[in-house]
Amino acid sequence: MSAFPYDTSVQSSYASLFADRYDDWFAASNTESTVGFLAALAKEGPPGPLLELGSGTGRVALPLASLGLTVEGLDASPEMTARLHAKPGGSAVRVTLGDFSAPPRPADTGRYALVYAAGGTFAELDTQDAQRRCLASAAQRLRPGGRLALDAHLPEALATRGTGTQPVDTPGEGFVLRTRTLHPARQQYTSDYAVLDDGRMRHVRVSFRYFTPGELDLLAELAGLRLVRRTGGWSGRPLADSSSHHVSVYERPA
Ligand SMILES: C[S@@+](CC[C@H](N)C(=O)[O-])C[C@H]1O[C@@H](n2cnc3c(N)ncnc32)[C@H](O)[C@@H]1O
Repeated sequence: MSAFPYDTSVQSSYASLFADRYDDWFAASNTESTVGFLAALAKEGPPGPLLELGSGTGRVALPLASLGLTVEGLDASPEMTARLHAKPGGSAVRVTLGDFSAPPRPADTGRYALVYAAGGTFAELDTQDAQRRCLASAAQRLRPGGRLALDAHLPEALATRGTGTQPVDTPGEGFVLRTRTLHPARQQYTSDYAVLDDGRMRHVRVSFRYFTPGELDLLAELAGLRLVRRTGGWSGRPLADSSSHHVSVYERPA
């Protein structure tokens, strides 16, 4: 029987491991609506720069910057950030390497008009405490009247329609299978990726924490933020029983 290298180690640094493949394999398909939503939101609040928590390869930050907005990023992965900076217009987006659940540096306190997280990135903080700290940190980064926007699964939709094994669309050779499993006892879900690439099989696990919109509102309230809008996604359509995701927008009161 022939064998290929099969690395079963559970990885938390998927972003760094697959930075060069992220755009092909993992990037969400709703980029246009995400950018449109955020560009409109940026006009509602005070003037000032935008900050993306988990700016990744710049899927959202770069098109926003190309509209003339000042966009900065905060990301833990030097590899993802290098991809962002290698793209056309990449030098316009200043990215700080660091943990977005940590408190801001003094220079970043009260600096941003809009802080946002897209592509399910906020749920990558897989404990309630990390999510609470992230919201507190985001609130501290905002100017008075500034907004925070983030997307997330609706947990009921995740449980009934979001689990199981699915192939991920991959251009070219190789394949990626994603198995999403719910862990209700710890309010988490995991995505296990089996990746066959260049004759090598790898397994990557990413852990997430899901939450109800009501829990998010309470964590935001603890951070001094108040809900101003909730939609059924970046398209801006109303939240409905059939929605799979929500986008929640909070304000740091002026
Ligand atoms: C799923 S990718 C999404 C990238 C981008 N927001 C998008 O929608 O295409 C998540 C990004 O968040 C970063 N990330 C995850 N947890 C983080 C943390 N605690 N602090 C900083 N960056 C983090 C990862 O390095 C990765 O680049």
